[in-house]
Amino acid sequence: MKIILLGPPGAGKGTQAANIVEKYNVPHISTGDIFRKNIKEGTELGKKAQEYINQGKLVPDELTCGLVASRLSEPDCKDGFMLDGFPRNIFQAEYLDKYLSENNVALDKVINIEVDSKLLIDRACGRRICKTCGATYHVQFNPSKKEGICDVCDSALTQRPDDNEETVSHRIEIYLSETKPLVDYYTKKGVIANINGNQDISKVFEDIKAALA
Ligand code: AP5
Ligand code: MG
Repeated sequence: MKIILLGPPGAGKGTQAANIVEKYNVPHISTGDIFRKNIKEGTELGKKAQEYINQGKLVPDELTCGLVASRLSEPDCKDGFMLDGFPRNIFQAEYLDKYLSENNVALDKVINIEVDSKLLIDRACGRRICKTCGATYHVQFNPSKKEGICDVCDSALTQRPDDNEETVSHRIEIYLSETKPLVDYYTKKGVIANINGNQDISKVFEDIKAALA
């Protein structure tokens, strides 16, 4: 299964990615997660990416595209993969198309999670993530059993530095201008499945499974 997850900030890409990994056993490639890991480890890439991410801007294509191509060339992606947060503009989509056609790989589905803009700020600002295992929660919509503590590994939960109202608003603007045109791009290719992401997490996953069936 070769899948792309598309959708605005806070749409539920990461949340549904965890469900998809469990059911379909595909590697989850999130460019946002890769950048955050590099920031945590203090690498050169992390230092360059950090200022863009904290301002809610896209990290430049020259730092992003090669990273994804190199990850896709690893052996665990031979039979399938799930891209989350890449591509994010037309340049990245064309780069990916070129990489895939050169490697004789065809996409199965682009899962486009659509959510009303008014819900996105609450979703992102209420998000809490586990510092250790990366599990995602929401203070209201998907709370952990013990406040501030991860259900999976008992570590402390934290907030992403880009999950404040001002930065999320900017990320939504960037999504509308740079990323949303990809909906048309993949619709024309006939690979898109539009999913109503306004529903409960479990119902969204039911619809994704139906689209992938
Ligand atoms: P990235 O990490 O990809 O962030 P994003 O696209 O803004 O998306 P999010 O991770 O914020 O949201 P999500 O859709 O995963 O939602 P989640 O499932 O967590 O990118 C971060 C930054 O990195 C970018 O701004 C950019 O700077 C850089 N970057 C990354 N990729 C790049 C690229 N290709 N090119 C250039 N720069 C790049 O859910 C959100 C919350 O809602 C959670 O709390 C969850 O519990 C809750 N929730 C989820 N689903 C539901 C539901 N159905 N009902 C109620 N609550 C729900
Ligand atoms: Mg995410």
